[in-house]
Order: sequence, then C-alpha cells, then structure tokens
Amino acid sequence: MAQKSKILIIGGTGYIGKFVVEASAKAGRPTFALVRESTVSDPVKGKLIANFKNLGVNILHGDLNDHESLVKAIKKVDVVISTVGNFQIADQVKIIAAIKAAGNVKRFFPSEFGNDVDRTHAVEPAKSTFEMKAQLRRTIEAEGIPYTYVSSNFFAGYFLPVLGQVGVTAPPRDKVTILGDGNQKAVFNKEDDIGTYTIRAADDPRTLNKILYIRPPRNTYSMNELVALWEKKIGKTLEKTYVPEEQLLKNIQEAEIPWNVVLAINHSVFVKGDHTNFAIKPSFGVEASELYPDVKYTTVEEYLSQFV
Ligand SMILES: NC(=O)c1ccc[n+]([C@@H]2O[C@H](COP(=O)([O-])OP(=O)(O)OC[C@H]3O[C@@H](n4cnc5c(N)ncnc54)[C@H](OP(=O)(O)O)[C@@H]3O)[C@@H](O)[C@H]2O)c1
Repeated sequence: MAQKSKILIIGGTGYIGKFVVEASAKAGRPTFALVRESTVSDPVKGKLIANFKNLGVNILHGDLNDHESLVKAIKKVDVVISTVGNFQIADQVKIIAAIKAAGNVKRFFPSEFGNDVDRTHAVEPAKSTFEMKAQLRRTIEAEGIPYTYVSSNFFAGYFLPVLGQVGVTAPPRDKVTILGDGNQKAVFNKEDDIGTYTIRAADDPRTLNKILYIRPPRNTYSMNELVALWEKKIGKTLEKTYVPEEQLLKNIQEAEIPWNVVLAINHSVFVKGDHTNFAIKPSFGVEASELYPDVKYTTVEEYLSQFV
C-alpha cells in the first residue's frame, strides 16, 4: 500500500460507524470523525467519543445540514466514509455537494453496508430504502467521484444472537422458524471485521470504483445449515417451522414498523438469496477475504460459540 490516507467518518457514533472509526484508528490511519455538537453531551455517545479521543481520533464538530462544516472537515482528508443511518440516506447528496466543493477527495464510501442494492429482489418497505441507496450510487457516478460501495451483507450482531428469529432476545433452544425452504445462502459478518475490511479498502487501487463484497466462505450459510450448526453446538434437535414465501409476504404487509422492514430484508436474503445469488464479476466487484487473506475474520462457527 503506497500511503496511509487521511480518513473522515461521517456517522461514526452510529451502530456500524463506531467499528469503522475504531478500525481506522487501530490501523494507524489519521482518523477524523464528524460529530454533531449536541451528541457530545449524550451520556452514552459522549463515552464513545471519549474512547475515540483515547484512540487518537480527531473529533470535528459538524452536521449533514451544515454545508460549511462538511467542506471544512472534508478538506482535511483524502477519504470520506459515510455510515449515516437509514433516515439519512437521501441526505447524503449534501456530502456529495461538499465533496465537489472541497475538490480533494480520492475516495468516497457512501453509507451502504448491506445488500448490493443494484442486485436485489426486495419487496416494500425494504425496496424503497435500497432504491434510495442505488439512486445515490448513480449521483456519485454522474458526478465522477471516485467511490467504493461496501456490500457487507448481514451484521452478525443483529442476526446471529437470535439465529435470524424476529422479535426474540435469545437464540432458539426448542423451536425455530425458517423462511422459505431454508436453502438460500446468506452472509453474516462481525462488525469489527466489516470495519477492518472497509479501512483496508480505503486507498487500495483494486477497490477503486468497485463494490467491495464481504462474503467470506466460512461466513456463508443457508438457514438450514445455520440451524444444523447451532443444533450440533447445543446438542439438541429443534422443532422447525417453515414459512412459505406467500405467507411471509402477507406477514410483511401486516407487520408494524420496524418489523415489516426487518421481514422484508429477511425475505430478500433468506427467500430470494440476494446475498449470494449472483457471481462477483471483476468488472464491478471484488471480494474482501480474497483481497485481504491476512485478515483473520471471526467465523460464524466461532461467533455462535459464545451463546452455547
Ligand atoms: N447489514 C446490516 O445488517 C445492517 C443493519 C443495520 C443498518 N445497516 C446499514 O448500515 C448503515 C448505517 O446504519 P446504522 O444503523 O449503523 O446507523 P445509525 O446507528 O442510525 O447511526 C447514524 C449515524 O448518523 C449520524 N447522523 C444522523 N443525522 C446526522 C446529521 N444530520 N449530521 C451528521 N451525522 C448525523 C448519527 O449521529 P448521532 O450519533 O449524532 O445521532 C449516527 O452517528 C446504513 O446504510 C444501514 O442501512 C446494515
């Protein structure tokens, strides 16, 4: 790697953002986090920010809605990584405007960190969020901003502690619900590893204007395989209920926010197979564990052991 780019994270106090900030600082990158002034006094997020400072992160005050604060922060760095939340996806046009005004950015990572939004069969309400992310991709490309889109698939912390079950707080020990026939393969990545791979890609020429898929082979499981692994770990066979697609579509329509969003994403992944139902072609993408074989990622097998 030729040089260590300076990295700005916008949304660093969010769920995935904090892992990206920490990965950047731990990799010895000059790291900057744009933080809203009001967030510093939040009891939980204030601690997070104090931890960032201990890691040597430069805290810059700013807001998506304050153009000058964005331009000022962006001018200090080479790479901008956005990890803003689902409610701010469309607002990232403000980051694009600031990147254009600043004129120095070598790479932009918009807030993606999920399915490849150009290759999905999602139904509403997930469909609209994915379309918003895809629209932002088109704007970045039209503006000629160098980019990397991180398709990190599932955050392990959201799915593995409950084995993909909705509305529960512990992994199943008696009964398990499986969407569709349970044979479509999904990908589950630990958040720290998503941070590590994202930072490794920051100034890698192989990820320039590409989608970085985090699809490590040992984290790719169908629901049937995942349940079988869990059963082996706890030494017990679970009672399985399979939900046909037609029933699931009905459940999505009847569910309240946010469960309808969660179910619609689960439909896309577990029924349609959107994490793995296409080959990664060199023309548009690269796979993280192949690019960085030295990164020792946490496997699903290792991750599940903590819940036994
Ligand atoms: N693959 C998966 O399993 C999965 C799961 C969930 C989310 N995701 C994706 O991951 C990405 C990040 O989502 P998340 O859930 O980690 O986000 P999040 O926890 O909602 O965090 C949002 C971040 O954006 C910041 N922010 C909000 N409004 C802002 C503003 N006006 N100016 C500056 N910063 C602002 C927040 O700052 P404050 O701290 O000041 O509020 C926070 O740091 C999204 O693209 C989402 O779709 C993927």
